[in-house]
Amino acid sequence: MALRGLVALALLVLISRFSSCYLPPTPSSHGFIQCLTENIPSELIFTPGSRNFTGVLVSTIRNSRFLSANTAICIVTVTDASHVQAAVRCGRANGVRLRVRSGGHDYEGLSYRSVRPETFAVVDLADLRAITITTDGEHWAWVDSGATVGELYHTIGKHSTELAFPAGVCPTLGIGGHLSGGGIGSMMRKYGLSVDNVVDAKLVDASGDLLGSRAAMGEDLFWAIRGGGGESFGVVVSWKLRLVKVPSTVTVLRISRTLEQGAVDAVTKWQHVAPTLPDGINMEVLVQGRQAVFQSLYLGACHHILPTLASRLPELNATAADCNEMTWLESAAFINFGNTNTTALLDRSTGRLDSFFKNKSDYVRRAVARGVWLEIFTNWLSTNGSGLLILEPHGGLVGSIPAGATPYPHRSGVLYNIQYVASWSAGDGSSAAMNWVHSLYDFMGQHVSKSPREAYANFRDLDIGENKVVKDVSTFHNATVWGHKYFGSNFQRLATVKGKVDPTDYFRNEQSIPPLLETN
Ligand SMILES: Cc1cc2nc3c(=O)[nH]c(=O)nc-3n(C[C@H](O)[C@H](O)[C@H](O)COP(=O)(O)OP(=O)(O)OC[C@H]3O[C@@H](n4cnc5c(N)ncnc54)[C@H](O)[C@@H]3O)c2cc1C
Ligand SMILES: *[C@@H]1O[C@H](CO)[C@@H](O)[C@H](O)[C@H]1NC(C)=O
Ligand SMILES: *[C@@H]1O[C@H](CO)[C@@H](O)[C@H](O)[C@H]1NC(C)=O
Ligand SMILES: *[C@@H]1O[C@H](CO)[C@@H](O)[C@H](O)[C@H]1NC(C)=O
Ligand SMILES: *[C@@H]1O[C@H](CO)[C@@H](O)[C@H](O)[C@H]1NC(C)=O
Ligand SMILES: *[C@@H]1O[C@H](CO)[C@@H](O)[C@H](O)[C@H]1NC(C)=O
Ligand SMILES: *[C@@H]1O[C@H](CO)[C@@H](O)[C@H](O)[C@H]1NC(C)=O
Repeated sequence: MALRGLVALALLVLISRFSSCYLPPTPSSHGFIQCLTENIPSELIFTPGSRNFTGVLVSTIRNSRFLSANTAICIVTVTDASHVQAAVRCGRANGVRLRVRSGGHDYEGLSYRSVRPETFAVVDLADLRAITITTDGEHWAWVDSGATVGELYHTIGKHSTELAFPAGVCPTLGIGGHLSGGGIGSMMRKYGLSVDNVVDAKLVDASGDLLGSRAAMGEDLFWAIRGGGGESFGVVVSWKLRLVKVPSTVTVLRISRTLEQGAVDAVTKWQHVAPTLPDGINMEVLVQGRQAVFQSLYLGACHHILPTLASRLPELNATAADCNEMTWLESAAFINFGNTNTTALLDRSTGRLDSFFKNKSDYVRRAVARGVWLEIFTNWLSTNGSGLLILEPHGGLVGSIPAGATPYPHRSGVLYNIQYVASWSAGDGSSAAMNWVHSLYDFMGQHVSKSPREAYANFRDLDIGENKVVKDVSTFHNATVWGHKYFGSNFQRLATVKGKVDPTDYFRNEQSIPPLLETN
């Protein structure tokens, strides 16, 4: 009887320690690290001041703005899903929150820093990065979150020159964060976003349980993790992807037009043309200084696309001399490095960390008038601190998938999105570049999508709103301000899923999905 009582008591203690309602009021960093060392190899735990904490911390920081004073109590470089489970359980038991980092590209650094005073540790997935390709008539890949898109592209391209995966351009992007926010890239008009091609996943939830499949997590949660933003629903450790078919020869075209050569007319016309070109061609524009660079990936041979370009966008005078034919894998290298050295896609080093950035985004549903483009060139692109605009056409498959199919709502009717990129280097004051991006964004307000003014979750921007925490839970109401911009009418469904899987808001950051509880 006494023994039974003891067992029951022990069970009760265990349950309350790990149950989702328990978060001690005073965080215990010491207790957390103690708990971790009992559960995972100590060489994977880095505390400030200990060997190489800074080296590991900065290893994937891409933005110098966030290099200074980091308040993480430790970094855990997990190599197995069970380590993630231990971090969640130890975190919950000791009142320590987790910031999850895969590739570290978050525009506001939220995968490794907290803007609010919170006791947190960084769970770094960079070394959890296996990629396995399987075939059963169709082709699939299981990819761990810490792999980069460059590693994924390289593995697929070496397996077959006729397989590919639609995702972002920069090779160092982490799979974990990139897929958590959608994944736009140069094949989205033909094959959709990355998340439109995710068919299964494994996730560690807020109780530290490993949900090993889509069936185990349920359709709502599986829907939410495919674009509903990182951090909110748990730690995705692995994703199953549907690979897509590409021809063994693709074409990269790069054509630039200066103001004198008619850049304003070409960009104005491009707005109507690019979203309605055949799905196999994606033509983005980089607008900077006095010129616009039209960069295309065409899934086919040069001579097949030239007649279409000649009739649809004669302003570019595209000829065979503008074409570079190569394999799809080589195109991934070429677009980034200007050469076809595909080994460089595996390089994870960030290069020199001497750049500071602030980026913002918009979606355009009604073409911007020619006069406005002229004004952008004259008043913003030729001034001190001026930056870069990147225009990514939608239409094709990405535009025809229903807005509620995944959390990414910017589908039917979107012509293209704009990314405003302001950058400066260490010596310069940041003010000119910051003023530039904010004043251009203000000016553009009247010319882009409205109510809500849409933004892309993967181009995180804390200017559009931050969560407010009341009684230790992020409030739904305050989050709608930024939530509707990123997710449109999908925001409420995301918050409802969050309310079911993490009602006490353990996984959170300044822009995580707040729990919407049925009692609200
Ligand atoms: C140079 C550059 C180029 C880019 N190009 C593109 C592009 O072409 N297309 C595009 O769509 N986007 C692009 N982006 C944006 C990019 O998709 C996002 O920044 C994305 O979140 C990066 O993923 P990450 O794993 O590298 O980032 P991280 O900083 O590691 O994570 C981003 C967010 O996701 C969370 N998170 C990370 N891993 C997990 C996980 N396993 N489970 C749950 N949550 C997680 C983090 O906590 C954080 O909130 C670019 C960014 C940069 C800096
Ligand atoms: C520190 O960590 C970084 C990133 O993991 C690694 O590249 C570097 O070799 C490490 N340095 C030492 C001295 O261990
Ligand atoms: C802003 O966008 C540019 C171009 O894609 C990118 O190089 C840079 O890293 C981005 N900024 C941040 C804050 O990551
Ligand atoms: C494009 O072609 C037209 C007609 O052939 C020609 O008049 C024009 O100068 C060309 N423009 C450029 C920038 O090459
Ligand atoms: C290709 O890139 C790799 C990795 O960046 C580099 O080591 C190698 O020297 C490059 N090869 C050539 C031929 O440039
Ligand atoms: C940019 O700044 C420099 C130095 O402050 C100044 O001489 C120059 O006139 C400025 N140029 C423009 C276009 O504002
Ligand atoms: C949150 O919403 C309330 C109610 O609308 C508002 O009064 C408050 O200012 C908001 N707080 C923040 C930080 O946005």
